[in-house]
Amino acid sequence: MITFNKDSRFFHLSTKNTSYVFGVYQMNHLIHLYWGAKIPEDNVLTHYLSTQRMSFSARDDGFTAGSTDNLTMEYPTFGSTDLRSPAFDCVFADGSRVPQLRYYSHKIYDGKPKLEGLPATYCEDGDKVQTLEVELVDSLKDLHVFLNYSVFEDYDVITRSVRVENRGEKCKITTILSASVDLNSAHNYDFIHLDGAWAKERAVNRQPLFHGKQSVDSKRGATSAHHNCFVALSEHNANETMGEVYSMNLVYSGNFEAGCEVDSYDTGRMFIGINPFEFGWTLENGETFQSPEAVLVYSNKGLGAMSRIYHKLYRERLCRGKFRDIERYALINNWEATYMRFNEEKLLAIAEKAKDIGLDLFVLDDGWFGKRDVDNCSLGDWVVYKEKLPNGLGGLAQKLNALGLKFGLWVEPEMVSPDSDLYRAHPDWALQTKGRVPSTGRTQLVLDLSRKDVREFTINWLTEILSSANIEYIKWDMNRNMTEVGSLLLSDERQSEVYHRYILGLYEILETITSRFPNILFESCSGGGGRFDPGMLHYMPQTWTSDDSDAVERVYIQYGTSMCYPYSAMGAHVSACPNHQVRRTTPFEMRGHVALPGQFGFELDLSKLTDEEIEIAKQQVKEYKEFGAVFHRGDCYRLISPFERHISALNFVSEDKNTVILLRYRTVAKPNERFAFVKLQGLEPDAVYVRRDNGAKYTGAFLMNAGIPWEFALTEYQSAMTVFDKQ
Ligand code: GLA
Repeated sequence: MITFNKDSRFFHLSTKNTSYVFGVYQMNHLIHLYWGAKIPEDNVLTHYLSTQRMSFSARDDGFTAGSTDNLTMEYPTFGSTDLRSPAFDCVFADGSRVPQLRYYSHKIYDGKPKLEGLPATYCEDGDKVQTLEVELVDSLKDLHVFLNYSVFEDYDVITRSVRVENRGEKCKITTILSASVDLNSAHNYDFIHLDGAWAKERAVNRQPLFHGKQSVDSKRGATSAHHNCFVALSEHNANETMGEVYSMNLVYSGNFEAGCEVDSYDTGRMFIGINPFEFGWTLENGETFQSPEAVLVYSNKGLGAMSRIYHKLYRERLCRGKFRDIERYALINNWEATYMRFNEEKLLAIAEKAKDIGLDLFVLDDGWFGKRDVDNCSLGDWVVYKEKLPNGLGGLAQKLNALGLKFGLWVEPEMVSPDSDLYRAHPDWALQTKGRVPSTGRTQLVLDLSRKDVREFTINWLTEILSSANIEYIKWDMNRNMTEVGSLLLSDERQSEVYHRYILGLYEILETITSRFPNILFESCSGGGGRFDPGMLHYMPQTWTSDDSDAVERVYIQYGTSMCYPYSAMGAHVSACPNHQVRRTTPFEMRGHVALPGQFGFELDLSKLTDEEIEIAKQQVKEYKEFGAVFHRGDCYRLISPFERHISALNFVSEDKNTVILLRYRTVAKPNERFAFVKLQGLEPDAVYVRRDNGAKYTGAFLMNAGIPWEFALTEYQSAMTVFDKQ
């Protein structure tokens, strides 16, 4: 619900369990007042505004309440009285900056508008969702900035985005964050973020906040494996089940910055948005700019509750299409089985085994087009490699379909190899800075998706290929950082727009292709999880979580990923051992137990499995079919963090609350261990749960408070999946 109190001029945004309050203050400054657990009244919140702090700070004539430099601001600008980091900044035609945004008007309405050209959360009929649009104006420059807030009452979520309308002379936006919130008492909080690199994405990092600015960002063109567009501030003692957590996640797939600036009064300015670094966007008179959306989640029940809020929202109101609500395919992918060395016969041999063990879909990965035998050529030449596939994609699809399998295909549409007919014909189609030779990454260049001709080409060949055979799944890859980012078509002045224009171009292609082919399941990938973000999930409901398919490594990667992304979004496969990334050999069972909660599949040569392994694989597929819905639509509770111990555990509770699945993993064996009890979460205390493997009965209270012992022999890489049924 959103209310506006005409006397105090306070806006009160409330969800089921939270309140977010800000107000129009002296001289029409917008002041932030409160974000946290739900409070009934807001009119006493002025005590939040300390007028004691003045020091060197300046104030406007007529502003009696101290200085905006020392107050909690709702959408700060720089250069006038507030000299902390701004949420918005721009350069006007006369070279001046100092935008001064003051409250002008507002609207409150039911529902939530779409974001022009950008992915976003949405509401459906019957959802309790309201939107507040606050118009701020710089009256000297006739610049209008609209702050949009949508309240998802039942989901406990507030989303924010910003739109600028320039009604004055030309100006250039240099900073436009999607959200900025000034929180008091930042000394109480830790800064939590997810970082890593290729094949070790999204490790949970946590440090106490310090005075000054701390942030994570991407300057790599995509969100990147290095940092995720997620930030949380938690009380020092907050854990999975208790304590306050404030968090922000950006629905965007390009350069971002997320962080917090702590000032001398321990006010923490928490923020997220497009990375202002190397960003600039020129707005002529009459032009508008729309920022991406930030998703804000507050929990006073720890990180677990925060994650479950993101999981539910993303499953139900970010992902779209036919595959949002149905169980997806259990698949076999040939990448780690054959790499690019395959022919139709080899693929079909794997496919036959795939059918045997009960899989639904065969995915043909990289190497099917042009002259692609190694990764140094052919991207852009999307014609079938006839020596490998004499019967084309259509012929292969028919044979797979005849076996009872669906056919899926790998593509990397955003790239071009210098050794390709496409590049030879259109060298100007690659991102490049005038006069400089663009550097290659994985021997490839990035196509300039800011160009309409490139987008049209991409949409056309994809449409042709997807219509040429019975293709029911696409893995959409993107395998390098962007460098020498510039576009030969754009004016000098607009070169600083290319990073963002690229992402807008990508979204346009994705919107067109995914709506043109609603029956195809799309999975995104970027060398694994290099672009695992809510923006991509809006078009493609799942992402290949990491190129590291080792079971032990995946325990960490998936745990970190689950901070804000649901398991239903994580592609997870059983792969061969010794593992191709770390050479580790883990039991086949453990590989299954780790992959099962994700979007499950195999990534190995099934025709080389022993009979015993085939039997285990069959069992795993069976379990996936039986429990997929529990993992993908139920609630996830993280019980033991692999980042803290050498064991890890989580449990899922089905949507109907009748099935509980406990997953336990040991990542490293240690002698003389202390006892480990696993206490489950999310059960009904008074209900009785029957353990399927031995018939033992426990109350929910027992399982949650006393817990069950670790109960395995001391060896490495143990794992177990234990199912309980509510009686
Ligand atoms: C990336 C992907 C892999 C595989 C290869 C193919 O690295 O993450 O899964 O598709 O590309 O080149």
